[in-house]
Formats: sequence, C-alpha cells, structure tokens
Amino acid sequence: MDSLVISGGRRLEGKVEIPAAKNAALPLVCLSLLTDQAVKFSNLPNVADIGHLKVLLNDLGVNFSEASQEFKCSEIRSTKATYDLVRKMRASILVLGPLLAREKKAEVSMPGGCAIGERPVDIHLKGLEALGATIKLDAGYIHASAAELRGCRFVLDFPTVTGTINLITAAVLAKGETCFENVAREPEVVEVCDALIKMGAKIEGHGSSRILIQGVDRLKGLDWTIQPDRIQFLTYLACGAITGGEIECYPYRKDTLNAVLQKFAEMGCEIVEKTGSVLLKAPSLLKPVDFETAPFPGFPTDGQAQLMACLTVADSSGASTIRETIFENRFNHVSELRRMGADIEVTGNLAVVKGVKSLSGASVMASDLRASASLIIAALKAKGESTILRVYHLDRGYEKLEDRLRALGAQVRRERN
Ligand code: EPU
Repeated sequence: MDSLVISGGRRLEGKVEIPAAKNAALPLVCLSLLTDQAVKFSNLPNVADIGHLKVLLNDLGVNFSEASQEFKCSEIRSTKATYDLVRKMRASILVLGPLLAREKKAEVSMPGGCAIGERPVDIHLKGLEALGATIKLDAGYIHASAAELRGCRFVLDFPTVTGTINLITAAVLAKGETCFENVAREPEVVEVCDALIKMGAKIEGHGSSRILIQGVDRLKGLDWTIQPDRIQFLTYLACGAITGGEIECYPYRKDTLNAVLQKFAEMGCEIVEKTGSVLLKAPSLLKPVDFETAPFPGFPTDGQAQLMACLTVADSSGASTIRETIFENRFNHVSELRRMGADIEVTGNLAVVKGVKSLSGASVMASDLRASASLIIAALKAKGESTILRVYHLDRGYEKLEDRLRALGAQVRRERN
C-alpha cells in the first residue's frame, strides 16, 4: 500500500488546474446503460473509482474504447451487479435505476455501510417502488423488477444525492409524468439532468427541490465535458489557506462553492472570484469559524475534514465548532489530527477545534477519501516529516495530487510498498 511522505512548513503558491469531478463522472458514465448509442467524454477523471465502474459496466455489457473515450452498450449482457464489484465502490448502486429503466429488472448487491456511516439505500428503493417496481431483498442482493415503470409522485425523506440520480435515471424512460420532491440540488445532480436532456430526456426543475419528468421511449447518445471537481477545488484552496499561501484554482463553475468560499473569507482569507477561477490569499494566522454541513447549497460534508485541518492552527484565542449533519461517523480524521498535535474535542456530531501554535509531523493513517485529504493538508503545515499511510483511499478521488502539490512548492513524495 502506497504512502505519501510530506515535509511540512512550506508556503504554497501558484495556479492549479482542477480535473473533472468524480461524483459527476460516476453517474454520467452510468448513463451509457440507458442507450444503445455511444456516450463519450472529453475529460474522464483518471481515478480509481472510475476504473472500478468501468469493470462493473463491462460486466453488464458496456464496452469502453480507450482511444475514443466512448462507452457503448448495444445490449445489456447481464443485469447483475455482483458483491465483488459493488463492495469495492458504493457508487455502484448507480446502475440500479438505469438497468431497471432499460431492462425492467436489476439485481444489485446491497452496498452496506462504510467508514463514514451506515448509508442505507431505503429511499432509492421506496422511490423505485413508487415508479411501479417490485423490490425484494435476498441474500445481500436487491432484486428489482417491473412489468413497466409508470410516472408517479414521490417525496424523498431526505435529499440523497445518488438516490435522486437513481430515481431520475429510472423515471426518464417511464410511462407518463413523474414528480419528485425534496430532491438533492447538488451541482452533480443538475449536471446529470442536463446530460439526460441532451440525450433526449424531458426534465424540468433540476437545481430546485422539485423535479418534473415526462417519460420518453428512448434516449440518444451523448458527447460531454464533465464539470470541474468542486471538492478537489476546495481541497487545494485549503492547502493555500493553511500554509499562509496564495492559490488560484480553475476552471470554476460559478455558485458551486459559495458556502465554502464564505467560510474561507470568515477565516480571514481574501477570496477573489474571477471569470472561471478563484484566487485565495491567506493571512499568516487564520481566524476560528463555525459551520455545519448540509445538503447543497449548504456546506458540503465532503469538505468538512479539509476545513477542520485548517482550523487546527487557527488563532487560539477562540475556538471553531463544526457540526456534521450528513453522515453519522465522519470524524475519522480527528484522532489522526490529534496525533499531529491538534486540540479537538468531539461530542456526538459536534467537534470543537481549538487552534494550536504548531502541528508536528507524524505517521498517520488515512481512513477514507476526504480524511486522507485532511491529513495531507495538516501535514503541509506541520513541523517536520509526516507519512500518510493507506493513500489508496485518496487515489479513489484525487488525480495526481502529489504532482499538483509539488508544482505549488510542497515537498511531497510517494512511497510505493
Ligand atoms: N440516506 C438514507 N437513505 C437513503 C440514502 C441516503 O438514509 O436511501 C442517508 C445517508 O445514510 C446519509 C445521507 O442520507 O446519512 C446522505 O447520503 P447521500 O445518499 O446523499 O450520499 P450518497 O449519495 O451515498 C454522495 C457522494 C458522497 C457525498 C454525499 C453527500 C457520490 C458517489 N457520493 O453519496 O461523496 O458525501 O453524496 O453529499 O456522489 C466522497 O466523494 O467522498 C463522498 C462520500
């Protein structure tokens, strides 16, 4: 298992080009199951999760051409997403809606919990039932089938991101009109809807909490450029913030990170929004802030760990409070940050972070994707050398992070074991 070795204490400065968003790419690639025509991307992210998804889709009958970056599924070969493939990546659940829409049946292994929470899929399943599917759970698998999917009205208990996408991808080929309420408004959901519209789907209201869909008989192919990854974007800004640096990230899709940029500004950073980019100029000492994670447009849970790392070295005359409301166990980075000298108290879903004068380099263990990013950010500031173990978590969603950090002046190397 690879690790990253970082010598902290360097001020980071420069421009970073942000690659395509993993959490947009995963559902977008699954759209290839909805049509027999080619679905093509100009900037597919080169991260481990997309690799896992390609293997799963191939199993289902989707051919991928490296040369043209096209996915094509002339016919579905199998409607079963096996445990072996789903356990490697929870997002595999995203094949459920498209398989059911095209083949009227699907068998998908239950994704199960993960390091950050239980992560049930009950809302996905209730919504599919509302569309007319019969759902049975047996031997760890979801068995979904339908004579036909029919438009319906369904209110989601919570605006789940992949749940919303699963339901939309099922409803676009259903008979008649569907109205989903309390849907997720994340930019990734909006992008999937825009791509579906380009494929011939009839969708209105995406970006709001109520989506209206008129079912169509078939969908066309797609040629698409995926939006920049807003979570990688905020991660690099956090690297600038903690090191007292100056970082400009591009391309920026306006209004996708307002809650985060506002917190950086409250922390004392100067934020300059330009056309297509954001420049962050950090002060020598950050101010403590309070925030709570929430569905979009609130503060993203996927950025909580990175901002917490920054706040570990904020002005010690106050304290920051961070409340995690989306996942029940998303403070895995806390114990590792403490090992680097951070002063963090956790009670339930509330973390109180008191800034310390300095962090010290240590060997720390990454436990999930965003926790890995948090430890890297802390290591960039810490005195001495840190080793971040198990960076395979990081490789699931960050592309060439160490190269990008080196270009900004960081001293980072990967050790392959
Ligand atoms: N939930 C339910 N029932 C459901 C679905 C969700 O109770 O049927 C709960 C979850 O347990 C959780 C909350 O609702 O407590 C939110 O979960 P959501 O379904 O929105 O998360 P997700 O769709 O599984 C996506 C991202 C996550 C990101 C969350 C929240 C992808 C592939 N994953 O997960 O990304 O944290 O939305 O924004 O899009 C990451 O990239 O590091 C990551 C974990």
